[in-house]
Amino acid sequence: MDKFLIKGPCKIRGQVSISGSKNAALPILASTILFDKTVIINNLPRVRDIDTMLNLLKSLGSNIQFFDKKKTVKITKNKKQKILAPYSLVKTMRAGILVLGPMIAKHNKSITSLPGGCLIGARPVNYHLNALKKLGMKYEIKKGYIHAISKGKLKGTNIKFSKISVGATENSIIASCLAKGKTILKNCAIEPEIKDLTNFLNSAGAKIKWIGKRTVQIIGVESLNETKYSIMGDRIETGTFCVAATLAKGDLLIKNFDPKIIQTELELLKKTGAKIKMLQNTIHIKGPKKINNVNSIVTKEYPNSLSTDLQAQFMVLLCLASGRSSITESIFENRFMHVAELRRLGAKIIVKGNKAIIEGQTEFIGAELMSSDLRASVALVLAAMVAKGQSVINRIYHLDRGYEKIENKLKKIGVNIKRLT
Ligand code: EPZ
Repeated sequence: MDKFLIKGPCKIRGQVSISGSKNAALPILASTILFDKTVIINNLPRVRDIDTMLNLLKSLGSNIQFFDKKKTVKITKNKKQKILAPYSLVKTMRAGILVLGPMIAKHNKSITSLPGGCLIGARPVNYHLNALKKLGMKYEIKKGYIHAISKGKLKGTNIKFSKISVGATENSIIASCLAKGKTILKNCAIEPEIKDLTNFLNSAGAKIKWIGKRTVQIIGVESLNETKYSIMGDRIETGTFCVAATLAKGDLLIKNFDPKIIQTELELLKKTGAKIKMLQNTIHIKGPKKINNVNSIVTKEYPNSLSTDLQAQFMVLLCLASGRSSITESIFENRFMHVAELRRLGAKIIVKGNKAIIEGQTEFIGAELMSSDLRASVALVLAAMVAKGQSVINRIYHLDRGYEKIENKLKKIGVNIKRLT
C-alpha cells in the first residue's frame, strides 16, 4: 500500500493549477445514461472515483474513449444497455447510487446495489428513494439491492426535500429530465457542482431552470442531444490549497478556479489573517505570520458556511492559531477521524459530540499517521507539511480517490513529499 513521506516544515511558493471537479464530474457522468447520442466531457480529474464511475458506466453498456491524457472522454452507447449496478463497483464509491435516477428514467428498470455505510456517517439513501418514488418509481430492497421499476416514463411532480441533500437533488434532477411534464424540486442543495450538472444537461437540450434560491423546475424532454462540456474546477481542491498557503506562510497563485465560488471559505481565511486577492479565475493568497483563531465555525450546506469537505483542513490551520477555536460538524455524524491522528502530531483538540474545540499554538512534530477518508487524509498531509521532522502517512489510497497528482502539485510549490510504493 502506498504511503507518503513528508519532511517538514516546508515553505510554499509558486503556482498551482486546479483540476476538474470530482463532485461535479460524478453526477455528470452518471447522467450520460440518459443519452442515446454522443457526449464529450472535458476537464475530467484523473482520480480513482472517476475511474470507478467510468467502469460502472462501461458495465452498464457505455463505450468510453479517452483523449488528452484521459482528461477528455467520449461516451457512446452499445445497442444493449444493462441495468445492474453491482455491489463490487458501488461499494467503493457512494456516488454509485447516482446511476439509479438516470437508469429508471431511461430504461424504466434498474437493479442498483445499496452503497452501504461509510466511515464519515451512516449516509442512507432514503431521500433519493423517496423522491424517485414520487416521480413514479416502485422499488423493493432485496439482499442489498434496490430492485426498481416504473410503468413507462416517470411523471413530473412537485417534491420538497425534508432535508437538503446533494446526491438526492442530483438524482432527482437527472431523473426528471426525461419525465412526462413538469417537475418542481424544492429545498434543493445548490452546491456549485449541482449548477454544473444542470448547465451540462441544459447544454444537451434539457429544460432545467432555477426559479428560486433552492427551487428548480424541470420540464421533461423526449431525448437529449449530442453535447460537449467542460467540467468546472474543483472547489475542495482549491480550498485545500488555500488552507495550505495560509498555514505555511505561503505565497501561492491558485489558477483555473473562479474565486467567487469559494467566497465563504476565503472570508474565513481572511479572518485567520490570510491576504487574498481575487483575480479572474485565479486566487493569490499569502499566509500571515500569526494565524488568528476563529470561534464557532459550523459546517453547513453551500453557500451558508464552511463546507464539510474543508472542515478537516481548516482544523489543521486552527491548531496553529494564536488562541482557542471551535468547529461544529453539522452535516455528517462522524467526520472527526483526523482528530486522533492530529493529536499524534501534537494537536490539542477536544471533541464534545459534533463540536471540536481546538486549543491553538500547536507545534506539530512529525509522526507516523494513518489515513481514514479522503478529506481527513489531506488534512494529515497539510499538518505533516508544517510539522518539524518526518511524517509517514499510510493508506493514501484514500487521497487518490479525490486529489489528482497531489504529490506532484505539492512538490512543485515546495513541499518535501515522496510517495513510497
Ligand atoms: C456529497 O455527498 C459529496 N459527494 C460529499 O463529498 C459531501 O461531503 C456531501 O455532498 C455534503 O456536501 C459527492 O458529491 C459525490 P448529502 P452526498 O446527500 O450527496 C444525509 C467528498 O469528500 N442523507 O448532501 O452523499 C447524509 O447522511 C465527499 O468529496 C440522508 O440522511 O451528501 C448526510 O448526513 C464526501 N439520506 C446529509 O444528509 C439521504 O438519502 C448530507 O448528505 C441522503 C443524505
